[in-house]
Amino acid sequence: MVKPTFPPFPRDFVWGVSTASYQIEGAVNEDGRGPSSWDAFVAEPGRIVNGDTGNVACDHYHRYREDTQLMKELGVDAYRFSFSWSRIQPGGSGPVNAAGLDFYDRLVDGLLEAGIAPSPTLFHWDTPLELEQAGGWLNRDTAERFGEYAQILGRHFADRIPRWITINEPVVLTMLGYGAGIQAPGLSLGFDALPAAHHLLLAHGLGVQALRSQGAGNIGIANNHAVTWPASQNEEDLQAAGLYDNIANWIFADPILTGAYPEELTPFLPPIPDGDLATISTPIDWYGINSYNPTLVGAPTSDDAALIDGHVLDSALPFSLRELEGYPRTDFDWPVVPEAFTELLVGFKERYGDKLPPLFITENGAAINDVPDADGWVKDQRRIDYTDSHLHALKAAMDAGVDVRGYFHWSLMDNFEWAVGFSQRFGLIHVDYQTQKRTPKDSFYWYQELIKQNKAGA
Ligand code: BGC
Repeated sequence: MVKPTFPPFPRDFVWGVSTASYQIEGAVNEDGRGPSSWDAFVAEPGRIVNGDTGNVACDHYHRYREDTQLMKELGVDAYRFSFSWSRIQPGGSGPVNAAGLDFYDRLVDGLLEAGIAPSPTLFHWDTPLELEQAGGWLNRDTAERFGEYAQILGRHFADRIPRWITINEPVVLTMLGYGAGIQAPGLSLGFDALPAAHHLLLAHGLGVQALRSQGAGNIGIANNHAVTWPASQNEEDLQAAGLYDNIANWIFADPILTGAYPEELTPFLPPIPDGDLATISTPIDWYGINSYNPTLVGAPTSDDAALIDGHVLDSALPFSLRELEGYPRTDFDWPVVPEAFTELLVGFKERYGDKLPPLFITENGAAINDVPDADGWVKDQRRIDYTDSHLHALKAAMDAGVDVRGYFHWSLMDNFEWAVGFSQRFGLIHVDYQTQKRTPKDSFYWYQELIKQNKAGA
């Protein structure tokens, strides 16, 4: 195994790992948890590769102590997990399910005891089913319900949780969940999905306010961003890439950081009620970026198909996603382009200047599907290479003046990778889904060494 060789990051740089409730917890019918949009989606035939579900997943609900112990061994400062809304409020509104809160009490207290800062996301796509059936994120009411839910969590945990994340990747839920039908709730509304984007952003703002009203602080969001590269310098490709960039990136960042939507999107957006943008731009303490790879975009191709996340869509979209050739690829077939990560981060600083709060990388990682060899070792050198190159790219952005305070690797362990089920492995820890045995991979020991070296100032 190659040892990390790093220009040191600042001593107080936060090293972490990420997961999300539906992807790891399992125990979907236990202790009063209500159903979520994902329980309903995975039950629909043909939605998930191999018919996989999150019913058991990594059984983290019962094995969180072992998982906390592994994180302690890894040496991380912080753990980003997500609360399952339907464990806390089974129907998405109304009374609190005490057993649901108890689970997170045990998790949070165990993390604190292990010296790991709990850094939860309030919502990582698993909408309580009752709310989904009432229109989900197309319904403004869901944002109001989210504000109440945030208040419950703030009240209960403000004194123990040192870092908060409101919502994970509104872009993916909007585009893949409501726009393209690849994820829950499985609607294919195209541009008519955009009200979901607005309501998710509104929920973020209401969530920040609700958390603060309960004394919680150090609040951010985890937004997915990818540098958009035009397929060519032709006018049509440049225009298509510009529109895609607005829809995938700036529609989710501008309102939070500047209080306005990108002007070019006005024709696509519903009328925005007065006051919403002020709520959405409620100041945050830091801004979280999830990033994996850049996107190549051109004008619609002649067969009018667009590729999103490897899925071919029939569509009349005004852009098409193209294969980015000439780079190594992960097992998920995503291109590995570390220099695009530097470009993304420097681009944020250029776009927002003084309005940009400190950044955290709230997700970054790679699907590399190595499994234990005959001696039980998982030699996932390509995950190490991916992470190594992206951390160098991150450091290059920091050296260019971008204020980044921490890095959360996706993911602590292999887990339920949404529409592709268990077929893609993103973990530093291998999970055998038959036995639930956890096996730290080579990348786990590499990350452990990297953290150790940085803390020692080596
Ligand atoms: C999501 C994770 C997901 C990861 C890899 C992010 O879009 O927040 O839940 O597993 O990417 O696809």
